[in-house]
Amino acid sequence: MTVTVVGGDELDVAVAELVAGGLVAIPTETVYGLGADAASAEAVGKIFAAKGRPADHPLIVHVHDAAAAAAVAEGLDERFLRLAEAFWPGPLTVVVRRRSGSAAVDGVVAAETVGGRPTVGLRVPDHPLTLELLERFARVGSGLVAAPSANRFGSISPTTAAHVIDDALPGLSVVVDGGASRVGVESTIVDLTGATPELLRPGGISMVELESVIGKVVDGRGGESRAPGMLASHYAPETPVRLVQAAHAGELLPLIEAETKIGVIAPFAIDHEPHWQLPADATGYAARLYGTLRSADMAGMEELLVVPPTSGQLLEAVLDRLAKASA
Ligand code: TXA
Ligand code: MG
Repeated sequence: MTVTVVGGDELDVAVAELVAGGLVAIPTETVYGLGADAASAEAVGKIFAAKGRPADHPLIVHVHDAAAAAAVAEGLDERFLRLAEAFWPGPLTVVVRRRSGSAAVDGVVAAETVGGRPTVGLRVPDHPLTLELLERFARVGSGLVAAPSANRFGSISPTTAAHVIDDALPGLSVVVDGGASRVGVESTIVDLTGATPELLRPGGISMVELESVIGKVVDGRGGESRAPGMLASHYAPETPVRLVQAAHAGELLPLIEAETKIGVIAPFAIDHEPHWQLPADATGYAARLYGTLRSADMAGMEELLVVPPTSGQLLEAVLDRLAKASA
């Protein structure tokens, strides 16, 4: 299938594709998404087919503002409003109870979008092209775009349009090119359906930021049933990844066996080839992590040694993804 890459002045091509029930790759500040009309069972079916994603893994629904998000939900409270006010548009997904009923009614997502769950993960992404796209789609269609990351199931999320094209997902015909994703790792997911908010996935908004707005948040990770799709093998390159703690190159060099083809990804320079140096701060590290893992994966190494950052706002998110990449 030929893929059409569109920019900001050709968004109508992408809107028309969504209206027609097709797949559109959308830029967001976290990673690129593989979007389809969340109100259409047939359209979201194409996402599951393209990604080879199990049908019970719920998709995040993207909307252009908090009011559009509220229309998809039921039983919202003050915590939702505070989070929306503080962090949207931005890298936060909020899981709430979803409005049910006929998909012909505004604000009702197809049950298939959320794997039949009574809940829905909602997000207003912080990217001008995608916000514009969502707004235009709301005028002529549901305005609800279900979008997982636009990579093949189990591989590394794309942070540029070129990554999306490399992954060549079957059925994808339109890619909106919005440049490199600013945050570089997926959104934080917080579940508000229980009495105490639960963190289901660390991401672009830190736990400290969340708690400053809604008080105590508990770590809800570990329960696969809570956030299906958070498999340990996610976000992994094909080359085996070994996570190592090291403060500088002097600690790392002795770990590199001469007879093995090893690539190094570290937040410092090292006298070893090949190596990829990332920023020391976790936020800068996150922005380049997935692109670097993709490049390193293509270097034909037997193993990648990856040294994590030790501080910065996005530390939890980076450590989470590195743990998964090395699982
Ligand atoms: O940054 C992001 O969130 C990106 C961009 C494209 O927005 N999207 C993304 O989607 O990472 P995906 O499908 O790769 O990860 C979504 C995860 C699912 O695996 C699932 O664990 C969780 O979000 N999720 C979605 N809806 C949920 C729900 N109703 N209840 C619990 N977990 C949910
Ligand atoms: Mg994903």
